[in-house]
Amino acid sequence: MKIAVLGSGTMGNGIAQVLATAGYEVILRDLEQVVLERARSNITTNLERVFKKKGLPIDEASAVIQRITLTTDLNLFREADLVIEAIVEQMDVKKKVFRELDSICEEKTILASNTSGLSITELGAATNRPDRVIGMHFFNPVPVMKLVEIIKTEETSEETYQTISRLAKSIEKEGITVQDSPLFVVNRILVPMINEAILVLSEGLASAEDIDKGMELGANHPIGPLALADLIGLDTFLFVAETLLNETGDSKYRVPPLLKKLVRAGHFGRKTGKGFYQY
Ligand code: CAA
Ligand code: NAD
Repeated sequence: MKIAVLGSGTMGNGIAQVLATAGYEVILRDLEQVVLERARSNITTNLERVFKKKGLPIDEASAVIQRITLTTDLNLFREADLVIEAIVEQMDVKKKVFRELDSICEEKTILASNTSGLSITELGAATNRPDRVIGMHFFNPVPVMKLVEIIKTEETSEETYQTISRLAKSIEKEGITVQDSPLFVVNRILVPMINEAILVLSEGLASAEDIDKGMELGANHPIGPLALADLIGLDTFLFVAETLLNETGDSKYRVPPLLKKLVRAGHFGRKTGKGFYQY
């Protein structure tokens, strides 16, 4: 199976890495060569660390990297059996891309989205193949996190669902099946918690360090919610938090003004070197 990954940012490069590690041929596309080079460098560093740790020959890491073709040319996606989209979390942009993919890719090609919570049904409706459109939601950092949410719409065919379930197993991920709905399962629960942590910080109730320490030591989370928001990327997190509020219309999901303020200032967390913490 040849797999194309669209977007080589935080998620796309991790997705490409796990697919290539499992032996798949991967085409990784982003808009600019410089972004692709950054992705290659991240994947190389990660793989070399893993191979070193496992005592495996470094040559084998190079073989994995060689299975990934980096490109800015969307036309290479013609050869793909599956496309996994991992671009910016904005419905308009994703729909435009799904329309493009629908016209470029072969009829049999499955189009999957790694969206954090946008409607898979709406993405499917932008194509002429809603039966071959599905959600395949990975978690950050992809090489470490075991879960994939598999999101079915009313239109997704059983064959498409089975293909994606088998793929998840073959890359050593555990799948959970979720009906299409805003933010699916994990983010529907996780996002309100992070929102609340940002509100606690805004109200001056505790420092960022103490809020995170509280959740690490008091709730056994591996990292606190503010550090997690920085890991996700505050720009991406804001889009996801807005989807939850807009889709449900429920004011309990209000978006913390401090989050908007940081994003408007260009502080996106780890990827820009500043968010709730400095990196
Ligand atoms: N890529 C690959 N491997 C990575 C990595 C990355 N970006 N970051 C860490 N790792 C690996 C390390 O190499 C290390 O591997 P070994 O144990 O084999 O040596 C392991 O992960 C642990 O890393 P560290 O010791 O450096 O640090 P840590 O113990 O704090 O773990 C972490 C890092 C795995 C990220 C951990 O902090 C964690 O699990 N955090 C929570 C992550 C989480 O909740 N993710 C979900 C985010 S929400 C989401 O993804 C959905 C969405 O739509 C927004
Ligand atoms: P990111 O901003 O780190 O990367 C997005 C990449 O997509 C950028 O490199 C950008 O240049 C590229 N891009 C934009 N338009 C493109 C196009 N038309 N063709 C090719 N590349 C294009 O974003 P991210 O955090 O990797 O998020 C990507 C998707 O994954 C989003 O839908 C997000 O909600 C979802 N997601 C994110 C996380 C997370 O923790 N960051 C976790 C799970 C899912």
